[in-house]
Amino acid sequence: MNPPGERPSRNAPRVSPSLLAADLGRFADGARACVEAGADWLHFDVMDGRFVPNLTFGAELVRALRPHSDTPFDVHLMVERPDAYVEPFAEAGASSLTVHAEASPHLQRTLAAIRAAGCRAGVALNPHTRPDVLAYVAGDLDLVLVMTVNPGFGGQEFLPAAAGKVADLRRLREQTGASFLISVDGGVDDETAPGLVRDGADVLVAGSFVFGHPDGVSGGVAALRAAAAGA
Ligand code: DX5
Ligand code: ZN
Repeated sequence: MNPPGERPSRNAPRVSPSLLAADLGRFADGARACVEAGADWLHFDVMDGRFVPNLTFGAELVRALRPHSDTPFDVHLMVERPDAYVEPFAEAGASSLTVHAEASPHLQRTLAAIRAAGCRAGVALNPHTRPDVLAYVAGDLDLVLVMTVNPGFGGQEFLPAAAGKVADLRRLREQTGASFLISVDGGVDDETAPGLVRDGADVLVAGSFVFGHPDGVSGGVAALRAAAAGA
């Protein structure tokens, strides 16, 4: 599935810089730098101060940035009651909407609503959440986001145990004949990326590494691609 602006699929993992790590006073410049660096997607971390102890932004930010690029917007909803946000974010221009399994008691219904709204349907798993909670919705999924930190903040230490789910999900995908992408979020850098890619990661979400790179955002994206290519 290639939403508008999606590049043709290829074997190399997609890079999705997390704008949470951008200079919030120059948010549009941060997004533009990612696009110019060739980022495949842009990752938006939506936090409600309830599901996670931090508060960020809502659909209006997505709407404000949408006219400035056709790069797919990869929206990660770290919110309670995510169903209430599907329509507003889809309408604002999200390309994918990822809800947390832990916040979604009626996950299949939520995923169906996301697809009906025209977005790629994703589920994020907290580090302690078993991947087999997805076994009976595998066909409803376009994306699974493996959290390798506890969600809520950028710049945290990578949790290797949680990364073990990438290989589990690849097996689940094979067993079920599903076609979801496997994305990894939290502590992704040039050291952790190769193992993730070897295990089957299709998308690398990275905030601190990309925005904190000594050679700027373009250096960060390039370094992540190089690390992934050497996997
Ligand atoms: C954490 C967010 C991440 C965060 C990643 O709750 O979901 O997307 O921005 O930041 P880094 O790459 O710094 O771990
Ligand atoms: Zn995220």
